[in-house]
Amino acid sequence: STSTGYRIAVIPGDGIGTEVIPAALTVLKALADRFGFSLHFDHFDWSCRRYLETGRMMPGNGLDMISGHDAILLGAVGWPGVPDHVSLWGLLIPIRRGFRQYVNLRPIKVMEGLPGPLRGSEGVDFVVVRENVEGEYSEIGGRLNRGFPDEMAVQEAVFTRPGVTRIVDYAFKLAATRRGRLTSATKSNGIVHTMPFWDEIVRERAAEHPGVDWWQEHIDALAAKLVLTPGAYDVIVGSNLFGDILSDLAAAIAGGIGIAPSANINPERTFPSMFEPVHGSAPDIAGRGIANPAGALWSASLMLDHLGQADAARALLTGIERTLSDRTVRTPDLGGTATTQEMTEAVLAALPA
Ligand code: NAI
Ligand code: MG
Repeated sequence: STSTGYRIAVIPGDGIGTEVIPAALTVLKALADRFGFSLHFDHFDWSCRRYLETGRMMPGNGLDMISGHDAILLGAVGWPGVPDHVSLWGLLIPIRRGFRQYVNLRPIKVMEGLPGPLRGSEGVDFVVVRENVEGEYSEIGGRLNRGFPDEMAVQEAVFTRPGVTRIVDYAFKLAATRRGRLTSATKSNGIVHTMPFWDEIVRERAAEHPGVDWWQEHIDALAAKLVLTPGAYDVIVGSNLFGDILSDLAAAIAGGIGIAPSANINPERTFPSMFEPVHGSAPDIAGRGIANPAGALWSASLMLDHLGQADAARALLTGIERTLSDRTVRTPDLGGTATTQEMTEAVLAALPA
C-alpha cells in the first residue's frame, strides 16, 4: 500500500453477506473520493457455496492470497446443508488464528431513535474486548469410552501469560483513549486456576496504566449488571468465552443484530485485520434485498479507523447514526419497509458535508 491507497480483500460469503458487502463498498468508494484516499478491492468467493462445489471454503493457499492486503472485509458465512463447524473452522477461525487477530472488538452504542429493549439505556456506549485466539476455545482435549456408560469428554482452557497480557494491555490502552474505565470479566471464585491467573495479570498490567480506573466483576454478576446499568461501562475485557457471550448480550442491548459491527485485529499489523458484521447469513431473508446494511457499514467504519482514516470513519458512523435517528428509512428488522439499497442511499445522503 501507499500512504493513501489501500488494498482490501473482500469476502462477501453467503446469504445476506453478498447483499450487505456491496452496500459497504458503495459507501466506502464515496468516502474515499471525499476524503482523498484510494481503495482497491480484490473479491474472493470463499463461502459455503464454494464448499458445496469444491469441498473447501477457501483454497489451500487462501491465507497466502490475502496476507499482503491492508484489511479484510467479510460479510457472513454459513448456509443450511453445510454444518456450521465447517464454515467456522474452514474459513473464519483459520483467518483469525493464522493472522493472529487476537483482539475481537465489539463496540456497542445505543443510538438515538433506536432505543433497544432496555429502559433508560439512552447514551450507552461501551466496547467489549474479547480474547480471540486462546482461552476456552481450544482444540486440546478429547473423548473417551464413546458409547459406554462411562463415556467422557475433556476440553482444556488455555491461558498463556503473553496471550492474557497482550489482550489486557490492548483493553487498558483503548480505555485510556475513551472514558478511562475498564472492567475485567472474571470467574476466579469458581474457575480456580485460569481465572486467578487472568486476574493476577490484569492487576500487574493495571500498574502500567495508572490513568485508567479499573475493576473486575464475576461474569454472572456482570451479565446481570449489563442489563440493569449498561451505562456504567466503558471498556470490558474478557476471555474468549466470556467475551463471546458478553458481545451478543451487548448487541441485544443496542437493539438488534442487524446493526452490530465487529473487528478482528492483529494490533502489530504483521497480518491484515478483518472487519465483519456480527450477524450471520440470515437464510430466512436472503435474496430479498431487505437486509439491514448498518452492521456491515459500521464494520467498514471500524476498518477505516484501523487504516488510519479516522475522519472518514467518523463521517460514516455519523451517517449511520443520522439515518437511524431520522427513522424514515429503515429496513424491516427495525420496523420499516426500506430495502438494503434504500437504506444505503440514506446513509450516503446523511454523510456530513
Ligand atoms: P443470523 O444472524 O444469520 O440471523 C438471525 C436472525 O436475525 C434472522 O432472523 C435474520 O433474518 C436476522 N438478521 C440477521 N442479520 C440481519 C440483517 N443484517 N438485517 C436484517 N435481519 C437480520 O444468525 P443464524 O440464523 O443463527 O445463522 C445463520 C447462518 O449464519 C448460520 O449458518 C450461521 O452459522 C451463520 N453465522 C455466521 C456468522 C459469521 O459469519 N460470522 C455469525 C453468525 C452466524
Ligand atoms: Mg457469538
